[in-house]
Order: sequence, then C-alpha cells, then structure tokens
Amino acid sequence: MSDSKIIIAIDGYSSSGKSTMARRLASKIAYRYIDSGAMYRSVTLYALDNDLIAADGTIDTPALIAALSDIRIDFRPMPDGSQHTMLNGRDVETEIRQLRVSDNVSPVSAIKEVRDALTAMQRRFGEEKGIVMDGRDIGSTVFPDAELKIFVNASAETRAQRRFLEMTAKGEAVNYEDVLANVVRRDHIDETRAESPLRRADDAIDLDNSHMTLEQQDQWLMDQYLKAVAR
Ligand code: DC
Repeated sequence: MSDSKIIIAIDGYSSSGKSTMARRLASKIAYRYIDSGAMYRSVTLYALDNDLIAADGTIDTPALIAALSDIRIDFRPMPDGSQHTMLNGRDVETEIRQLRVSDNVSPVSAIKEVRDALTAMQRRFGEEKGIVMDGRDIGSTVFPDAELKIFVNASAETRAQRRFLEMTAKGEAVNYEDVLANVVRRDHIDETRAESPLRRADDAIDLDNSHMTLEQQDQWLMDQYLKAVAR
C-alpha cells in the first residue's frame, strides 16, 4: 500500500447523505473534510445579506460578481471535532443551512464567475492532497484526477425525509412538502444549468444508499478507500 495521500471526491444529489459519509471517512483516516456546498451557501448568504437578491429571487449578478473578491470562506475546526464554515471571519454554520439560503443557492451556483472563484478556492484546499471533498462537480470538474470518486444517489423522497428530520431536530418550523419541493427544484436546476451541471464523472463509483444504515455506508466507503490507496 502506498503511503501517499489521495484526493477523495464525493458527488451527488442534495441530501443524499454525502456530507455525512465524507465527514465520517475524513475523521477516521485523518484527512481534511471540505464541504463545497457550504461554500456555495456562504456566497448565497453574502448575497442575501448585502441585498444582492431581490424578494422575487432575482440576483444582481454584476454586483455579486464584483463582490466575489471580498468574500473569504474558511473552515474552522471545533473542539468537538466538527468544523464550522466561516464567511469573512463570521461563523455562519447555522445560517447557511436555513431555508432562505437553500431556496436561493441553486441560481447563485449557476453563475459561471461564482463557480470559477469557488473552484479555484477548492483546488487550493486540495494542493496537499489528503482531503475528502463533497459536492456536485468535484470528480468531474474540480479534481478530474482524484484517485477516488464516488457518486451518491437516493430517491427524492428519502432525501427530503432526511432533510426534514434534520431541520425539525434543529427546531426549524418546516413542513415536509416544502422540503420535498425544494429538493426537487434544486435537483432540476443543478442538473440542467449550463455551467458545470451535476454530472457523474465517467470513472465514479455509484452508491445508492436509500436502504443502507450509516454503518453499512461507512464500511462500504472505507472499503473503496482501502482499494483506492492499494492501487
Ligand atoms: O450540498 P448542498 O445541498 O449543501 O449544496 C448546496 C447547493 O450548492 C446545491 O444546490 C448545489 C450547489 N453546489 C454546487 O453547485 N456545486 C458544488 N460542488 C456543491 C454545491
């Protein structure tokens, strides 16, 4: 087995459980975990907070593009082993998961200049390898040479149910139908946007985890990792 660290790209649909599996693998193998969705969410939050998105969802695209150089995104390790997303030095971990951000993130992610800026940041995180990054285009665009690429899927209903439980556990007042509608709408925008759409890399390994427990999923991913480093 080679000692050298690799890049692990985990792509898939929203709420497919890819962040959970990516985070858990990273912690077991002492790799850095990067949540690229949190970066798109942070840019969206910045746009909302700076009135660059109107109430009807219209984005002031030129102003957002001009502001991109003012947006710094980092991940701060927390004492409990988790990490929080920092936007210009502010902890935004909770805010970026709220429905107001979820409802606007897909159109923001469809802007070419936003993708270019975040792709460049993501590649910098990968310079020293030893990372697990999850997202939509990590294996296809950000790290086309990643040594291990996984593409995760589960039915829209399963994914909406997971997100609904997550949000209600945090005390958010949401109903399942709205969450399902948000999942379906985001799938559609993510799959059909012109810039770097959600696409399975040709050399990705598929995982449908609709009927898997967390433990089965962890084991499956660990097996893929061990095979990849042994190659
Ligand atoms: O994984 P998530 O639901 O937190 O992602 C939020 C949004 O960000 C999602 O609607 C699509 C977008 N995204 C993207 O376009 N490319 C990525 N690599 C990651 C996320």
